[in-house]
Amino acid sequence: MGLHGRDNVVVSEMKLERMLSMKGGKGEASYANNSQAQARHAQSMFHLLEETLNEVQLESPAEEAPFVVADLGCSSGSNTLYLIDVIIKHMTKRYEALGFDPPEFSAFFSDLPSNDFNTLFQLLPPLTIDGGSMEECLAADGHRSYFAAGVPGSFYRRLFPTRSIDVFHSAFSLHWLSQVPESVTDKRSKAYNKGRVFIHGADQSTAMAYKKQFQTDLAGFLKSRSRELKKGGSMFLVCLGRTSVDPTDQGGAGLLFGTHFQDAWDDLVQEGLVDGDKRDSFNIPVYAPSLEDFREVVEADSSFAVNKLEVFRGGSPLVVNQPDDAAEVGRALANSCRSVCGVLVDAHIGDQLSDELFMRLESRATVHAKELLEQLQFFHIVASLSFS
Ligand SMILES: C[S@@+](CC[C@H](N)C(=O)[O-])C[C@H]1O[C@@H](n2cnc3c(N)ncnc32)[C@H](O)[C@@H]1O
Repeated sequence: MGLHGRDNVVVSEMKLERMLSMKGGKGEASYANNSQAQARHAQSMFHLLEETLNEVQLESPAEEAPFVVADLGCSSGSNTLYLIDVIIKHMTKRYEALGFDPPEFSAFFSDLPSNDFNTLFQLLPPLTIDGGSMEECLAADGHRSYFAAGVPGSFYRRLFPTRSIDVFHSAFSLHWLSQVPESVTDKRSKAYNKGRVFIHGADQSTAMAYKKQFQTDLAGFLKSRSRELKKGGSMFLVCLGRTSVDPTDQGGAGLLFGTHFQDAWDDLVQEGLVDGDKRDSFNIPVYAPSLEDFREVVEADSSFAVNKLEVFRGGSPLVVNQPDDAAEVGRALANSCRSVCGVLVDAHIGDQLSDELFMRLESRATVHAKELLEQLQFFHIVASLSFS
């Protein structure tokens, strides 16, 4: 098949939730290999996570009822495993401080069906529960002190039985929309995103269509979780956010998807490798909300008590050994971008053109390495919610 593979058209019409995933496996541009920044940002928020865990109401554990944790949007790297460990260790300490024997723990790793669950499951350390106390298990590094299961499905709908989960966690996932709003790819609509692949710097009507989609999706998420969370349970949510009121200024996400990435698409169009309409029908389904965008939805739902809702400065998505090495910075940006949206790009224009696109992104990012290191900063919305 040549560079202009026709069968890609069919793929790009597939529903987003059937095809979206971070890049699986353990290769150079895989999510598993490009998620150290997320790990760092998560670590810098552990004190907020622990505050949320302290809100969970504990009772003397019933003999056979496990304490159940679910990570939503777990992806395929080790971040989710680390995080589940942190939660379980913290909850164990809390039980012990109250003089209770800790219960058994169960962890659900949930993501869309195309997520590379195999790579994730291969990273799971062996289970050590039989023949040792929970304390011994927790002390033994490289062992797992909880039962694990994968749950495929969209977190914008129901995933678990009613009142079955004690703690929900979701990091760096809720900014992914369930779909690109239809109006954004409809040439007759005012919201048609002509010439662009993201809403950064787009028309207000395009950005408003994204905002509406984000708020509808978040409302669906909260509604489902309010059925699934046990009474006394808590939820810790972190997603990309922005500090500007204006949704066409997407902050760090805007810099990642709306500048050099946009220019790389334009290169392909100017070189005649992709036609303009093909570029315009590609849109990154990400929306970095403002605190207000997020708050409006939480308040409209009213099922949850809000312990905390704030914007948190996360830092750069670029992790490099040698900041002075422009080539390394360029490669890091291209790999980090490809690890999160490469699957969508491959499906839209095919693997070969996708290689061309990310090569152009890498060389553009190399030229702008210094300013990328200085300016590329992520802000996150952090929400700690309890259900009583
Ligand atoms: C950037 S990764 C975050 C991974 C992990 N939580 C971490 O901290 O490294 C975002 C994840 O959200 C998932 N995701 C996006 N939309 C989703 C949806 N509607 N339902 C479930 N998962 C979704 C993606 O498939 C992806 O694995």
